[in-house]
Amino acid sequence: MSLKFDFNNLFSSSVGEHGVSQEDINEILPEAQKAASHLKKIISNPKARVKLNLEWAKLPEQDRADIEQIQKTGCEISKKYENVIFLGIGGSYLGLKAAQDALCLPYYNEFKSLRKKSPRIYFEGNNLDPDTLKTLLKNINPKKTFVVVISKSGETTETKAALMIVETWLKAAIGVKYGRRILAITDPQAGSLHKRVVAEQKKDPLAFRSFPLLKGVGGRFSEFNMGLLHLAIIGVNINELFCGAKEMSARCTRDDIFKNPAYMYALLHVILYRKKAKSLAVLMPFSQSLKSTADWYVQLLAESLGKKYHRNILVSADGDEEWLNDWDKIFAKGRTPISAAGTNDLHSIQQNNVEGENNKVVTFIRVENFKTDLKIPGKNDLLSGKSFSQLMRLAQEATEWALAGENRPNCTIIMPEISAFNWGALLFFFEMATAFEGELQNINAFDQPGVEGYKNYMYYKLGKPGLAKEIASEIENSPLVKKAEYIY
Ligand code: PA5
Repeated sequence: MSLKFDFNNLFSSSVGEHGVSQEDINEILPEAQKAASHLKKIISNPKARVKLNLEWAKLPEQDRADIEQIQKTGCEISKKYENVIFLGIGGSYLGLKAAQDALCLPYYNEFKSLRKKSPRIYFEGNNLDPDTLKTLLKNINPKKTFVVVISKSGETTETKAALMIVETWLKAAIGVKYGRRILAITDPQAGSLHKRVVAEQKKDPLAFRSFPLLKGVGGRFSEFNMGLLHLAIIGVNINELFCGAKEMSARCTRDDIFKNPAYMYALLHVILYRKKAKSLAVLMPFSQSLKSTADWYVQLLAESLGKKYHRNILVSADGDEEWLNDWDKIFAKGRTPISAAGTNDLHSIQQNNVEGENNKVVTFIRVENFKTDLKIPGKNDLLSGKSFSQLMRLAQEATEWALAGENRPNCTIIMPEISAFNWGALLFFFEMATAFEGELQNINAFDQPGVEGYKNYMYYKLGKPGLAKEIASEIENSPLVKKAEYIY
């Protein structure tokens, strides 16, 4: 059974003037058809896919042989170690965390019986808060620990700093051969982590083993690439995951927009954004296990669609495209994603969703069957005899009803169960919808120049060599202004 998409409550027939009408669709259709054929053209051209960072669209079709080595290494690590620390941030972290929470049982780290002989998994290098890493390293045994560092550039401060600490910790316990306990997932041709891998392997071929982050796959679109070793270590069936993503890929590459769930989802949201001022996108799975998937989605939407400039497409004589920022066309838009979860947030953000500003669209994920269930005991209570999953489904339906009743647009993704197949399909759906929304808005959905500002400021203050002169002078000429009168 596959994912289903219920878009009823996005239409004016359900939510009145706050919804999409047939005229709205007719109006945007020519633009949408153009966007669909442009996306198709790029995805079907291997060279363009890599150059323009859309290679992720073909990841579910990876050859089994290509991932066999990853699977083998994952099994080896899984058998040998009690703990694995994954170091990475942003696109090099959120997909892993989402997979961990969706595809393993809750409390995985706490109970051996749930891990089925797989190691405990820890995520670090995704923050500069010293408390988490310090506490972790104080409490686990380095001799029983393996470390996977994920960074395309190798320069990301959070990950780099964490690696330096972890290396010292490993070295103190293991000695000079500590590098055999580290595996790097990184760019296979460039970047400081790649250079480190080459240098370490020259000294000891078993140190700093490495798997490649594929060309043309940006961090937030890379779960089916950089996430594979993690999946192999925790024992997820990668084949099943790819089958789900492939099935969704077939649905989401249909030319007919009305039969393509990702295109339809993006199109309806763009109409609601442009014409009804729905600028907030709340993703609210009714499942605790999918909360981290909502966090992953926040990054996907925010980094892909929140852009300052429109895209300028340059086409060479032989038809090759280059996407540049159109400096004359300020866009400075993008729906703002919010991660929530039912039923926790029914006692929190829901008040604002129902009665606050009508400026958002809520996407629910409804799970039909949970991995386990609980029946409430007794006979004399309203809740007696009901199961948790039954109440969860009812709460989701009730939330939909409450929103629709207040003319608040919302839609529901129906997941038969949280399996590798369905989770793979879900990720692919959101990736394709995001790419299509980028096309509709005519922006480059595959870069994240806005993330550079804070990085450059930190590099400048830290005295990083080689920082461009223009960056340094920009910081010097426009420092942060702190007026004493505004500090209370
Ligand atoms: O989506 C992206 O590309 C980013 O979020 C990156 O993944 C993130 O900034 C981490 O970068 P790196 O992998 O180079 O350490």
